[in-house]
Amino acid sequence: MNNSSWTRRRFMQIGTGAALAGAGAKLTLLEPTRLWGASPNVSSSDTVRFASIGTGVRGCELLKASLIVPGIECVAVCDLYDSRHLAAQESVKKNVLATRNYKEILDRKDVDAVIIAVTDHHHRRVFLDACAAGKDIYCEKPMSHTVEDGFAMIEAAQKANRMVQIGSQRVSSILYAKAKEIYDSGRLGDVTFIEAYWDRNSASGAWVYPIPPDASEQTIDWNAFLEDAPKRPFDPVRFFRWRCFSDYGEGLAGDLFVHLISGIHFITGTNTVAERAQSSGGLFRWKDGRDFPDLIDTFYDYPNFRLAVRCNLNNEGGEFIGFYGTKGTMIIKDSTLTYKPQDIRPQPESYSIYGWPEQMRNEYLEKWQADHPLPLSFTADEGVETYTVPTGYSDVSDHQANFFNAVRSRKKTVENEEFGNRAALGCHLANYAYFNKTIATWDGAARKITRG
Ligand SMILES: NC(=O)c1ccc[n+]([C@@H]2O[C@H](COP(=O)([O-])OP(=O)(O)OC[C@H]3O[C@@H](n4cnc5c(N)ncnc54)[C@H](O)[C@@H]3O)[C@@H](O)[C@H]2O)c1
Repeated sequence: MNNSSWTRRRFMQIGTGAALAGAGAKLTLLEPTRLWGASPNVSSSDTVRFASIGTGVRGCELLKASLIVPGIECVAVCDLYDSRHLAAQESVKKNVLATRNYKEILDRKDVDAVIIAVTDHHHRRVFLDACAAGKDIYCEKPMSHTVEDGFAMIEAAQKANRMVQIGSQRVSSILYAKAKEIYDSGRLGDVTFIEAYWDRNSASGAWVYPIPPDASEQTIDWNAFLEDAPKRPFDPVRFFRWRCFSDYGEGLAGDLFVHLISGIHFITGTNTVAERAQSSGGLFRWKDGRDFPDLIDTFYDYPNFRLAVRCNLNNEGGEFIGFYGTKGTMIIKDSTLTYKPQDIRPQPESYSIYGWPEQMRNEYLEKWQADHPLPLSFTADEGVETYTVPTGYSDVSDHQANFFNAVRSRKKTVENEEFGNRAALGCHLANYAYFNKTIATWDGAARKITRG
């Protein structure tokens, strides 16, 4: 048999398999069963009464998403900026009590749980006070503003026996549950590399939010906002665009890396902190006085895989996570998940033998075929699979439902304080490496980041 006839026969066999794989490829619309399956009929005595502390963009978004969660009732809202009281009441469609002082909310006996959606530099204080007041806590991501904050928050929650959930909602998403199922099935083989990015190309994406026309020292409690941060005269840019400044936020790492890292930790079942991180990046475009880069790219070492995470505010790339395994590839791109197997059946060498004399090559190929009877075809399992979520699906409501169910059941959430802290440490490692121009190493025993 000469090479060309062998190749044609093999092509036909593989071709049949490929056609089958194509026929097996399918798009599946995932059903949002989790929220509706959770506890649709909650008795009024089991209703969880909650308040939101921080009703800015995220607080209002959470309040709106809470409207479809069964068995809960918002009874109060709190924010340092008065117009956000009205925005919160509009979101929850109720004239609930609104205050600037969150301690008034913590003192109330009818509040079982609080949503903490304040700026990152306030998470620790409000969280600790809520634990002391015996409230369960849904705290927005990133859990901590500093490494020390996270461990203080864990200690407080566990000492006070509080139910905690951190707010990276992808952990409760039906799309991520499917990704975890595929990962756990072993169909990816050994995953040694994971890549994630979240790229945006707009003023809003770069946090250049408009300043509301009524913003003033009369409508905003500026001193309370500063809290322990350096004292400064009233500055609405810092108040509304706080993510740009290290006194209050953590830039791209705290805003976006933490979502990607939380999703990856959830899917891979990772319960360690990355051992090391190296970062590169720069401030190329949004030179408006901010402290943080508009491009950051971090390479993390985990025990079983390496992870590259990037956020770029200079191109519209959307959100992406790729899991690269020895048997297949899984991609999450925005709200679509694709699994693609690799043909890992043994193959004859098809490149270097073209430097051999023809007869030797043909003998090699014949012997190879004799030694490797071909499998008949791919099975349907080996085909490409694509999954997506229904239009209007909200993982935010699912995440809230999981939290409020934990409040009732007293069973820890998946994205509990330890999980949230590990994900937040990923963003602190990235920033430490970037700003100190060094490899950042996690010292778990000392609970700190060190150089090199
Ligand atoms: N999970 C997500 O997808 C997601 C999305 C956006 C924001 N977030 C997180 O939510 C939090 C809030 O972000 P945002 O976009 O809503 O910011 P924002 O600036 O719109 O709102 C923050 C609000 O917190 C208030 N605040 C700060 N300290 C307070 C205090 N001690 N008492 C009462 N109110 C206080 C401020 O007055 C402000 O109105 C941040 O931690 C952010 O990282 C999460």
